[in-house]
Amino acid sequence: MAEQGTGFVGVFDSGVGGLTVLGCLMDELPHERFVFFGDSARAPYGDKSFEEVLALSRRIASSLVDEGAKALVIACNTATSVAAPTLRSEYPDIPVIGVEPALKPATLAPRHRRILVMATAATLRLGKFQRLEDRWGAGSEVIEVPCVGLADLIEQGDPASPKIRELLERQLGPWRGKADSVVLGCTHYPLIRDQIREVVGDVPLFDGGRGAARETRRRLEAAGLLAPSSQAGSVELRSSIDTPEEHDLYRRLLALAQEGAGR
Ligand code: DGL
Repeated sequence: MAEQGTGFVGVFDSGVGGLTVLGCLMDELPHERFVFFGDSARAPYGDKSFEEVLALSRRIASSLVDEGAKALVIACNTATSVAAPTLRSEYPDIPVIGVEPALKPATLAPRHRRILVMATAATLRLGKFQRLEDRWGAGSEVIEVPCVGLADLIEQGDPASPKIRELLERQLGPWRGKADSVVLGCTHYPLIRDQIREVVGDVPLFDGGRGAARETRRRLEAAGLLAPSSQAGSVELRSSIDTPEEHDLYRRLLALAQEGAGR
């Protein structure tokens, strides 16, 4: 348990996907204390209504803030699109950082004629992504790929599973060899990078984890909230499925995410 008032960074997602953002945060901010909450009991958020995702996000944020979070990272594209403005207005005194599909870096890369954006249906439908596409998509052909069911399969904990491969074949197979890059617009998807490349081809994959981690550093620095370099970093993993098996799964997937954070 984090002690009251120690000023940890609270990080949350609908489930295991946020671990890919946490891996980047730990890399970028090695002296911080992180408390991660994955709402695996209620995942996926991508199929829920706006009101449900908002209510779930507010409940998690409020418990992290009550416990002493000095900053919040919404490590979920769906929850960011839905809840970031509300959480920023409810907690004006602490940095609230979100993630967004990494369309900007994909459009600035040398090869960007055709960009596939994989995300939940909710993320693609909501105004935040539509604004991102209006701003950065003009010089490219941006293909939206709503990956219904994919986060749910990743939650089951086997990134190499044949079921994931089958779904990817259906959703991405038609684009094999025809895309210049792929944006991983859901924080679960970096956990299955290898399978995505096997289906779509050996193209650059862009995700928002690294950008969110850098933004968290900037926001903590600006607010004078960075942990001193004398502090040992730490991480506590929590899931709304509170079983030893689930905790093992979180630890295993965090290790996988940390390997991927450098790629
Ligand atoms: N990991 C989440 C995201 O980045 C959502 C997955 C889900 O729960 O549908 O959008």
